[in-house]
Amino acid sequence: MAKEQICKNVSYVGVSHYDRRLFDALIPTPEGTTYNSYLIQGSQKTALIDTVEPELKHLFLNNLKSASLSQLDYVISNHAEQDHSGCIPDILALYPDCKLVTNQKCKELLLTLMPQIPQDRIIVVKDRETLDLGGKTLEFILTPWIHWPETMMTWLQEDQILFPCDLFGSHLAVSDIFTNDLCLFYEPMKRYYAQIMMPYRIQVSKHLKTVKSLNPQIICPSHGPVFKNPSIAISLYEEWVDEPPKNKVLMPWVSTHGATARMAEHLTQLLTEAGIIVAPYDLTRADLGRVAGELVDSATIAIGTGCILTGAHPLAAYIALLVGALKPKAQFAALFGSYGWSGTKIPIQISSLLQGLSLEILPPVFAKGAGTSETIAELDNLSKSIIERHRSLNLF
Ligand SMILES: [Fe+2]
Ligand SMILES: [Fe+2]
Repeated sequence: MAKEQICKNVSYVGVSHYDRRLFDALIPTPEGTTYNSYLIQGSQKTALIDTVEPELKHLFLNNLKSASLSQLDYVISNHAEQDHSGCIPDILALYPDCKLVTNQKCKELLLTLMPQIPQDRIIVVKDRETLDLGGKTLEFILTPWIHWPETMMTWLQEDQILFPCDLFGSHLAVSDIFTNDLCLFYEPMKRYYAQIMMPYRIQVSKHLKTVKSLNPQIICPSHGPVFKNPSIAISLYEEWVDEPPKNKVLMPWVSTHGATARMAEHLTQLLTEAGIIVAPYDLTRADLGRVAGELVDSATIAIGTGCILTGAHPLAAYIALLVGALKPKAQFAALFGSYGWSGTKIPIQISSLLQGLSLEILPPVFAKGAGTSETIAELDNLSKSIIERHRSLNLF
């Protein structure tokens, strides 16, 4: 994507990575992503906000070239992660008078990751410090944990444009950075939130209030679409961050010989008949990004697992570990499955991976082999327990 104008003297110069299929070697990105970089030209000085993933450096430098940039005075680093900072050394080499502007914590991280950055070219800014470009004033707002501990936002005062880096990002490669089609960006934005922001929900909630108090006219995140109508992005985040979970059960399951699959089907039927939304995923073929997205607003996580040797299936253990890492707002967990000659430690194994969360773990249902009528009765009781818990939260 070439240079695009956001408003007078503010341009998008980032790149789309259409083929990126995995982020942080963790979450699939079936629709790619973008690395957003912005150019702000004041009457005196010019600043670049963030850079791009070094793999696409050639496209980024082309965009800067097409912007006919003879001089660059500042490169602002809102976040030290490589997808935004990785081309900073190239920018400093290309523009010998350019200074790197960032906060103290970000400076330390940048130097750890890229020790070749010359320290005497770094300007350290404090919370709410400003930088005047000539009719364009940049204000730096320290917002730790909108991904990493060093993250900050840049606020362009005159145009009321917020550059919040990863906050409000979407993993969506677009040819039109201004796309405002909610059907296009909703799922990529939710998947992004689940992986990057959900683990820091408490901090994000606090920073959302700061964003609202600024009343931005445009939000320019570091991935995916630019929001010329910021209320869409803000209200989605308010729902995901602050509102109670939905009347929904996320049910990732894995079955070795079919018994756990039948239990998942039975449980799904009981819960849907009661009016609960159920999102079942066979872990042998599920897109983990979608599973992570469902974690955002599910009230219950029901994990089903078959047995491998005498323990839980590794895919079930993996999903429990992922839930533990992403810290969703779910309040209840249910465990079910089947085993062969021995599998009594399976519920303990999975429960231990969920221990860091404030989840009520309901009595597990595990059957030997195909199970019996007693198994069906236990599943009926489990579904009743889930329905009762959801009622207690007024989710119906
Ligand atoms: Fe990040
Ligand atoms: Fe990022």
